[in-house]
Amino acid sequence: CGIVGYVGARPALGIVLDGLRRLEYRGYDSAGVAVVGADCLLTEKRAGKLANLEKALAELPIDTAETHIGTGTTAIGHTRWATHGGPTDRNAHPHLSRNGRVAVIHNGIIENFAVLRAELEATGIEFASDTDTECAAHLMEIALAAVHLEQPHLDGPQAMAEAMRRVCRRLEGAFTLLATDAGTPGAVVAARRNSPLVVGRGVDENFLASDVSAFIEHTREAIELGQDQVVLITPEAIEITDFAGAPAAGRDFHIDWDASAAEKGGFDYFMLKEIAEQPQAIADTLLGRLTEHGEIRLDEVRLTDQDLRDVDKIFIVACGTSYHAGLVAKYAIEHWTRIPCEVELASEFRYRDPVLDRSTLVVAISQSGETMDTLMALRHAKDQKARVLAICNTNGSTIPRESDAVLYTHGGPEIAVASTKAFLTQVVACYLIGLHLAQVRGIKYADEVGAVVAQLQEMPDKLRALLDRMDPVRALARDLASAGTVLFIGRHVGYPVALEGALKLKELAYMHAEGFAAGELKHGPISLIDHGTPVVCVVPSPAGRGMLHDKIVSNIQEVRARGARTIVIAEDGDEAVLPYADHVISVPRTPTLLAPLVTTVPLQVLACEIAAARGHDVDQPRNLAKSVTVE
Ligand code: G6P
Repeated sequence: CGIVGYVGARPALGIVLDGLRRLEYRGYDSAGVAVVGADCLLTEKRAGKLANLEKALAELPIDTAETHIGTGTTAIGHTRWATHGGPTDRNAHPHLSRNGRVAVIHNGIIENFAVLRAELEATGIEFASDTDTECAAHLMEIALAAVHLEQPHLDGPQAMAEAMRRVCRRLEGAFTLLATDAGTPGAVVAARRNSPLVVGRGVDENFLASDVSAFIEHTREAIELGQDQVVLITPEAIEITDFAGAPAAGRDFHIDWDASAAEKGGFDYFMLKEIAEQPQAIADTLLGRLTEHGEIRLDEVRLTDQDLRDVDKIFIVACGTSYHAGLVAKYAIEHWTRIPCEVELASEFRYRDPVLDRSTLVVAISQSGETMDTLMALRHAKDQKARVLAICNTNGSTIPRESDAVLYTHGGPEIAVASTKAFLTQVVACYLIGLHLAQVRGIKYADEVGAVVAQLQEMPDKLRALLDRMDPVRALARDLASAGTVLFIGRHVGYPVALEGALKLKELAYMHAEGFAAGELKHGPISLIDHGTPVVCVVPSPAGRGMLHDKIVSNIQEVRARGARTIVIAEDGDEAVLPYADHVISVPRTPTLLAPLVTTVPLQVLACEIAAARGHDVDQPRNLAKSVTVE
């Protein structure tokens, strides 16, 4: 979910709505705001995208003489990705307490909500929604009344902070909570446990948000809150305590990326812009990490060479597209380092009691650095004494902060929900780790490192050339837009590429798409092939592993013999595939282990264009969120 809060001297509603617009990628099932007026609160919330909320607000008589909502300088806002309760108007945030004077928004899951709800209902409170959040709103009202009674010396803002601390001590689970009170204009109180929250420090105004993009146009000075902290913002002050009330400090940081990086830059969709940015993104991942002598320098990875020599097993944990990056990495890391490397879905890893110890390196890959499944997997790994190295794109996010070391991908902000440049940069970061490990450990394949480094350095130019020849892919996309099913096959590193191609199509085009290991086809999935079924075949270089190439050419023949329409992704000059391909998409020659950097790109373009042809919202596909901060 996306969360924004503002207190200052300016009308708050517009500032909060602008912030929500920038956070909409975090969830867009519903949206809502609460603005504090003259001893009153206005809340408005709507299912669906932010535009629905804005339309509803436009129809309201906001600035009446009595309420002063239009000039109210305190507000909170929320875009939701539904967990408890469907995405309806009544389940949208903010939620109000019984007397309608406290408004609360929430990101996360309150795990003991059933107990709390039963307790509150027993006192006669009727719930207006199906959410876990509403408990927090009622608890806030009750706590506020108790604080006024028991600690009358506290002023309005301080009483809110104390009430929030009391509420947090009762909650289990993950939450970022923001609350406003009709009787206390000029204050927003917030709390954080296991969900992201940052404070933006302005001049005579302060901000709260789930990430800095919400307030980057107003200030570049930010504070990241620690675990289990409560923060009170007023126009003049930011006060942080722990849940017991002891003063605490967040981590100050300066935001150095450009706000324009988060705009579409002339492309129809963020996704197209991000696909086009891939050459630069990869160059940025490599920047400063390769020496002229063909060595890898990862100075910021705070693991000593001895730590790296002690590693005897690697687990890569991640979700979604980041998991596919991990699957690609396995082939390269095992080949270069000879260390066994397993790749697991973070949501599975955590719950199956994996065998871990001090000599296990767990690599957690996450674009956002906030994915709860991945965070829980890394915490489990740390509990078992494994060392955790994060590969992440988002500075200051939770996963790198909790890891022993981090390698940032430097891909720049990724806004489209479907991940593109983050994937390629994650794969490159994994290569760097694999090569570095091989070098440090002096493995026999270490002599390959220099050659691979040179090939990686050529990659941005190769990708630029590849992106210039995507017109046939776009034409093919229009042609495939009406297909019912699309299958993807690949071998070796082409297998995760097939999985990623299918995932992109599912996410964006809402089509039935599946990726298979080409060799596995004959063991079952081949029965899916009917006359005209499109099958995308990811073919490795004939130069590197000839046998692999020949095997997949046989697989292409097998599916074609059963009526498939074959779409073949093959290297420039690969003539062996021509007799069996209905369509050929050629990509620049690339050594097998690095090939996913080129073969994935046409599949991204294909999915994006098919989705657009089918009339879908490419950047914000239904039911998905960019950053999923619940398990
Ligand atoms: C969400 C997104 C996916 C993404 C996954 C992992 O489900 O919709 O596109 O791959 O999270 O995200 P992360 O930020 O951890 O890489």
